[in-house]
This record gives sequence, structure tokens and C-alpha cells, in this order.
Amino acid sequence: MPSTAIPETMTAVGFYEHGSLDNLQLLEVEVPSIGPDEVLVDVKATSLNHADVFSVRELDHYTPEYPHWGGMDVAGDVAAVGENVTGWEIGDRVVVNPFIRCLECEHCVRGDFMFCRNRKTMGEHRRGGFAEYVDAPQRYLIALPDHVSYEEAAAVPIAGGTAYRALMRRGDLQADDELLIVGATGGVGTYAVQIANEICNVDTLYGTTSTDEKAEFLSDLGVDHVIDYTEESFDERIWDLTDKRGVDVVYDNVGGPAWTKSMRSLHEGGRLVTSGATAGPNPETEMRLIFIRALDIRGSSGADPGDLQRLFDYVFDGTIESIVQETMPLDEYERAYEMMAERELYGKVALVQE
Ligand SMILES: NC(=O)c1ccc[n+]([C@@H]2O[C@H](COP(=O)([O-])OP(=O)(O)OC[C@H]3O[C@@H](n4cnc5c(N)ncnc54)[C@H](OP(=O)(O)O)[C@@H]3O)[C@@H](O)[C@H]2O)c1
Ligand SMILES: [Zn+2]
Repeated sequence: MPSTAIPETMTAVGFYEHGSLDNLQLLEVEVPSIGPDEVLVDVKATSLNHADVFSVRELDHYTPEYPHWGGMDVAGDVAAVGENVTGWEIGDRVVVNPFIRCLECEHCVRGDFMFCRNRKTMGEHRRGGFAEYVDAPQRYLIALPDHVSYEEAAAVPIAGGTAYRALMRRGDLQADDELLIVGATGGVGTYAVQIANEICNVDTLYGTTSTDEKAEFLSDLGVDHVIDYTEESFDERIWDLTDKRGVDVVYDNVGGPAWTKSMRSLHEGGRLVTSGATAGPNPETEMRLIFIRALDIRGSSGADPGDLQRLFDYVFDGTIESIVQETMPLDEYERAYEMMAERELYGKVALVQE
């Protein structure tokens, strides 16, 4: 394969065993080899997602090869190309679409890429970008324009792509909708706020958070009514704010104790969209609310290639901004994981190669 000078080994941040975040360590590992349709990316920036924390702590939906390293979001330069690769050259600036699908199974051929029987999400089912290099199929690269930094781009795919699909495709969000985002300050949340305002132009946007500082941040970001759920029950507050009507759509990635309150925040026929369960996947529920109010509960996961490309168009033209609270070198990973696990985040944290 044509290549620049690529070392045989590289640094990665990974783990051999699940359990504690203390299991994470700096590793010296082989640089991945690439297949004929793959590209080797010299990683310049990655960002952390809550799934990276879940991956280290526990895993129930895939069995990686160990040591495993996460890093679902990757932006960098093409460092080498496989023999069948066309359209990409060494040195090209790229961002990786992490939702890798086989494009051949019965779901993929119908265009239902999210249901792909052989899906392999970057950093989950295959090793990701918490390393100096990563291998990626050529079809899963998006060209990165010069005016967008690697950090801004690497913040987008998992958090932004998931929010875009959940709200625009699954949530069918409309301009006259009132939307409540439960857990609005994190990665998914900050993209969801902007998608709702800048792309959908929703009527009224409500958001929940847990501190005064985060509430101020959300107001500045464009949330019309911020509710601190540590001070009041957010469903009761929604009831007051909407004159006992409830909102049209709730986007809840928190789950746990928030789930039934999210249902209570909706008016009859309202849509409850979820793509995550940060506070717990087995909440108590209130079935009577579902049938008496005829609630419409819609699941969503990840993004199709078209969703992600559309979102990147908005990022590239400046409509949507990546809120990267902090950028730090990869070897400061402990602090980055701590920020996410301890809920210190306003938007995203990026890890870069120095
Ligand atoms: N299905 C998919 O494809 C997909 C893709 C991306 C993300 N997700 C899921 O979506 C969720 C959000 O991901 P993210 O990367 O945006 O996470 P994040 O940046 O850590 O944001 C989590 C948000 O939830 C709020 N929160 C409320 N209760 C919490 C609790 N008990 N623990 C932690 N946070 C809590 C936090 O803010 P406050 O403290 O202000 O409440 C924060 O705004 C995760 O569950 C993730 O796994 C799923
Ligand atoms: Zn498939």
C-alpha cells in the first residue's frame, strides 16, 4: 500500500478488563493494518461519548478483542490507502462516520442501515480513535474542509448524528412543536438544542439540568425555559409552564428516575423519543399514561449516512456549532473520562494528538 512513514507501533488508551475506569491505561500496540478497501487515518482529534464510559464499566451488547480501546469519533489525515481505494489520498483531511454498516444484509439493501445485521460501530465493535492511528472503510470517510478544526469535527458524529436522527427522523420534529430535552447539557443535548432551534425552529424549547451554572449555559445556548430538576419536579414545572397542556415532544436520554416524568410532561398523543438511558435502562413506568394519553414512544439509535452528511453540511456552513468545553492531549484521558463520569461537561471534551 502507498504510505508515508508509518511506525510499527503506536500509543493507545484502552483496557484489558471491564469494571472500573481505573482499568484504563496507556498501551503500546501495533498500528492497525488496512484491508484493500480501507484507509489508515492519522488521528488528530477524537471526542469522548458516554458510551466510552459505559464500555469500560460494563458491556452487554458486544465482545471486543482485548485490549480494547474506544474513541468512536475520529478526525484526522489519511495516512495510507488500501489498493482498491479511490477518491482518497494521503494527506486528505477527513472525519470518520462511525456507524459502519455492511451495506449488504437485507436491512442495508432496503436502506434501513440502523438495523444492519453486521453493524460495527467505531470504538465499540471495532477499535476506535483513542490511538494514534485507526483503520476505517473508505466509504465511511467524510471530507473535512480546511475551515473546520479536527476538534470541532470529532465532536459531531456520535452525539450530533444521534440527536439529528432522533429529532428530525424519528421524532418528526416540526416548527410549531414545543420540545423538552431531558439532559440538555451533554454531548447529545447540546446538539439537540441547536438542531431544535436552528434547523427546526421549534416554537418553545424546554431543557432540564442540575446546577445554576449549567442552567445559565443552557439559556445562553438557546433553551427558552431551563428547569433545574434538583430543585423541582420537571414534569410539574412543565405542567405550569404549558398551562396544564404538556409539550408535543420529549427527547429523553436520561431514563431512570426521569422516564415517567418525561411521559407526564407530554400532552395527549405526544411523542417520547429516546436514544439513551444514562441514569438507568430499567425505569419504573406508568402504563396508564401510555394508553390514556395515547403516547407515542419512539426509539432511535445512531444515524444513517444521509443523516450524518446533512448534519455535517450544517456544521460546515456554521448553522450548528460543536460545543467543545475542553481540548486535552490523549495522555490526559483520565481527566476527560472523569469529567464525563462526574457530569462536569458542558457539551463535549476532545482528545487530541500533540
Ligand atoms: N443510541 C445511540 O446511538 C446513542 C448515541 C449517543 C449517545 N447515546 C446515549 O445518550 C446518552 C447521552 O450521551 P452523551 O454522550 O451526550 O452523555 P453526556 O455528555 O455525559 O450527557 C449526559 C447528560 O445527562 C444528564 N444526566 C442526568 N442524569 C444523569 C445521570 N444520572 N448520570 C449522568 N448524566 C445524567 C447530564 O446533565 P445534568 O447533570 O445537567 O442533568 C448530561 O446533560 C447516553 O446514555 C449515551 O449512551 C446513545
Ligand atoms: Zn447490513
